[in-house]
Amino acid sequence: MFARITGTGGYLPGLPVSNDALAARGIDTSDAWIVERTGIRFRHLAGEGETASQMAAIAARLALEMAGRTATELDLIIVATSTPDYIFPSAACMLQGALGNKGATAFDVQAVCSGFVHALAVADKFIRSGSHKKALVVGAEVFSRILDWRERSTCVLFGDGAGAVVLEADDAPGIIASALHADGSLTGILSEPGQIRDGKVWGDPFLRMEGQAVFKAAVRVLASVAEECCQAAGIRSGDLDWLVPHQANIRIIESTRRKMNLAPEKVVITVERHGNTSAASVPLALDEAVRDGRIRRGQRVLLEGVGGGFTWGAVLFAF
Ligand code: UT7
Repeated sequence: MFARITGTGGYLPGLPVSNDALAARGIDTSDAWIVERTGIRFRHLAGEGETASQMAAIAARLALEMAGRTATELDLIIVATSTPDYIFPSAACMLQGALGNKGATAFDVQAVCSGFVHALAVADKFIRSGSHKKALVVGAEVFSRILDWRERSTCVLFGDGAGAVVLEADDAPGIIASALHADGSLTGILSEPGQIRDGKVWGDPFLRMEGQAVFKAAVRVLASVAEECCQAAGIRSGDLDWLVPHQANIRIIESTRRKMNLAPEKVVITVERHGNTSAASVPLALDEAVRDGRIRRGQRVLLEGVGGGFTWGAVLFAF
């Protein structure tokens, strides 16, 4: 029994917001700095009141349409997000309600920017166990709400959006291997350490990041988890048709690609136009490459993510 991706969908809110537009809002930055250090030129920002589950629902409907399925057929809904609509209920239950599904297992996974690969690997295990047959796995984020817009070293990096896949039980692969890891000694390098207590926000409610520490940790773990996944599947990284990495920084993606000895044309890159959409970045990039015909049926694709926690992981599948 395998879990096979039968549909993908994506949603980016509003119009692209350029680096120059951020500078024009009074952020002490420049297009030249952002492009040189990150590769980002644009990001999308959610409208006032637009939530993670609302964006998830748009991406999910597109994925269901591609799969030829209806929401009522789903028996598992997992949303990867660090920016859910509420503390509870989960974004997955909000999404379930919006889609009109009753009775499916529904819960959120919180692994920040590697949330989608975590959620996909979890859904794969549910399906392979035989307990569930049709899953919807979504990454959806509104990081614009947790950014300190006075802090130029973080606010220019992130964007909002949602990406989704439908995953179905099948005799043929399917997801072949996955690997998930975390290192809780690194909680401090990337966090949003605010709390709600007695009706008030306590502590610091904004995303804080030690950029260089995150950069180094990301470069260290991404090539190794890709290698681990390929080994588990009995292939070499050179045998991959596509790498769909987390879209945080073009320099991190390039360094991973070089370590993996992959040709540049095998890497799906959206960071230039999406910025870092955290848990949404991998499914958004996957959806784009599926819809424009680059990723074709039967090809071997490796998805990988890295983020706060510190967490990282990869999923290898035949499309
Ligand atoms: O999803 C996972 C989460 N995040 C990541 O993967 C991000 C990982 N880290 C990074 O991508 C990079 O570390 C950053 C892009 C965040 C920063 O790049 P950097 O090359 O490490 O720059 P830096 O932090 O060392 O800053 C260099 C300079 C500093 O000025 P001084 O002290 O040299 O005068 C910063 O103040 O750049 C300055 N700077 C900026 N200048 C213009 C920082 N942010 C900006 C900005 N615009 N937005």
